[in-house]
Amino acid sequence: MELIDGKKTSTEIKQEIAEEVKKIIANGGRAPHLAAVLVGHDGGSETYVAHKIKSCEEVGFKSSLIRFEDDITEDELLKTVAKLNDDSDVDGFIVQLPLPKHIDEQKVIEAIDPKKDVDGFHPVNLGRLVAGLDTFVSATPSGIVDLLKRYNIPTAGKHCVIIGRSNIVGRPLSILMSQKGVDATVTVCHSRTENLKEITKTADILVAAIGKPGFVTADMVKPGCAIIDVGTTRVKSDKTKSGWKLCGDVDFENVAPLCSYITPVPGGVGPMTICSLLKNTLKAGKQR
Ligand code: GUN
Repeated sequence: MELIDGKKTSTEIKQEIAEEVKKIIANGGRAPHLAAVLVGHDGGSETYVAHKIKSCEEVGFKSSLIRFEDDITEDELLKTVAKLNDDSDVDGFIVQLPLPKHIDEQKVIEAIDPKKDVDGFHPVNLGRLVAGLDTFVSATPSGIVDLLKRYNIPTAGKHCVIIGRSNIVGRPLSILMSQKGVDATVTVCHSRTENLKEITKTADILVAAIGKPGFVTADMVKPGCAIIDVGTTRVKSDKTKSGWKLCGDVDFENVAPLCSYITPVPGGVGPMTICSLLKNTLKAGKQR
């Protein structure tokens, strides 16, 4: 079994991005600028956004963090999105999810200019992905495909089973994995799937993206398969200073010995998603 080291791979990709930024600046261009909008004080969102901002610094991007309290109105947030759409200094921006319940997330996503939607969440960008057109692919699916490529894990003709059908991970990943060049045969499973275990046992590549800690157990996997664990649930722990630890969707201890490759949590898919966001921002900057 080989551990897929997302941290190491993401460091390599960040170095490549930093080199490109240096070249852009040497040629008289300006550093790409990513803005992040963070509403409220959700612990997970705070951590993710802090990592995004830090990664921008590491690769030489400009970054801006725009913070609001939980009680911001939908209207105020939509006005901020409109301002960022019009701000010629900003190449791309994200609105960190989840948003408070009184705000319609989809309305906010659809208010983002698709040309600045470096998360790739806007229906225009999702639609372009489905149509096989150039687009901003959302960060987690794109990070997963990068990891498979960098580890030379065969995908052509292989059966990729994805557990989870979210618009952020499962659904776009299913499109990417079946695209020409990746060429996997894809099955998407979800909460209503019957005989889940029979299906997951036929996977050459099994992706768990459901947010249920330890959901994938040893009896659900085919020996020799590659496993990608997208889960990042915070669970209580008396062994860490913070009082919690990140838990994946896979029962790592019992599943890892059976597979050819597996991503750990943390340090697998997580660091790669930030790289994809940086890549999209670089692309947005170049396109403008
Ligand atoms: N919340 C969890 N993952 C993401 C992400 O990739 N982008 C945004 N905007 N919010 C998230």
